[in-house]
Amino acid sequence: MKNWLKIERIPGPLASSYEKATRLAIDLYYSKVAEEILSSFRQGLMLDLGTGPGYLPIEILKRSSNIKIIGVDLSRRLIHMARENARSAGLSDRLSFEFGNSSRLRFDEGEFDMVLSTGMLHSLKQPVKMFQEIYRVLKNGGEAWIYDPARVAFYIDRDRWKASLSLRDRFSLKLFRALGLLRPIKTYNPEQVREMLTSTDFEVLSIEAQKDEIKIKLKK
Ligand SMILES: C[S@@+](CC[C@H](N)C(=O)[O-])C[C@H]1O[C@@H](n2cnc3c(N)ncnc32)[C@H](O)[C@@H]1O
Repeated sequence: MKNWLKIERIPGPLASSYEKATRLAIDLYYSKVAEEILSSFRQGLMLDLGTGPGYLPIEILKRSSNIKIIGVDLSRRLIHMARENARSAGLSDRLSFEFGNSSRLRFDEGEFDMVLSTGMLHSLKQPVKMFQEIYRVLKNGGEAWIYDPARVAFYIDRDRWKASLSLRDRFSLKLFRALGLLRPIKTYNPEQVREMLTSTDFEVLSIEAQKDEIKIKLKK
């Protein structure tokens, strides 16, 4: 697909069905990733890029009181949902969400102890810019963990998800599919990621790839 045709953000009409899918992945995916992160990080300020409905930062903060997180996303609809989710979880004092683009972050150099991102890399028009921006906003010694499970559907019961969809959700999904606007899923392999990283000074801690999923751990 040509770069300019790519829709990076989750389009507004699909935000509700996406949120319902990710809600079903909390126990099977987000809580496990949260525990993995907390096995290495117990305090500080984190940035969650492409935060979506915010379920990963919520799962992290439910398990640790010494962390603050800012979630950034290009979808205003999802930012609104994420704020509601943080409020319902009673975490709004340590968890905030804002509109923003991973290729042009508003933050200063060295602001964050850790940067994380799940499920966003495959949709980016400018993935190299994202790596450069993450490098810039991380503190020296800070780490970035970028997980890209390109299909959250791996982790959910599709029948339950379908049953949870409203008529409007179904209509929007059908319409986007019919118009060919559901983007094809592309993932990067470790060699392609290493190539993108040559424009930064990141130390590569590890890059693990499985089918349709990659886990990248970097250190500034
Ligand atoms: C597949 S979702 C993953 C959401 C969440 N991290 C999760 O794991 O459920 C990808 C998210 O990245 C956001 N996104 C895409 N491109 C972005 C960009 N350039 N900057 C910030 N967010 C972006 C989308 O709007 C969407 O919410």
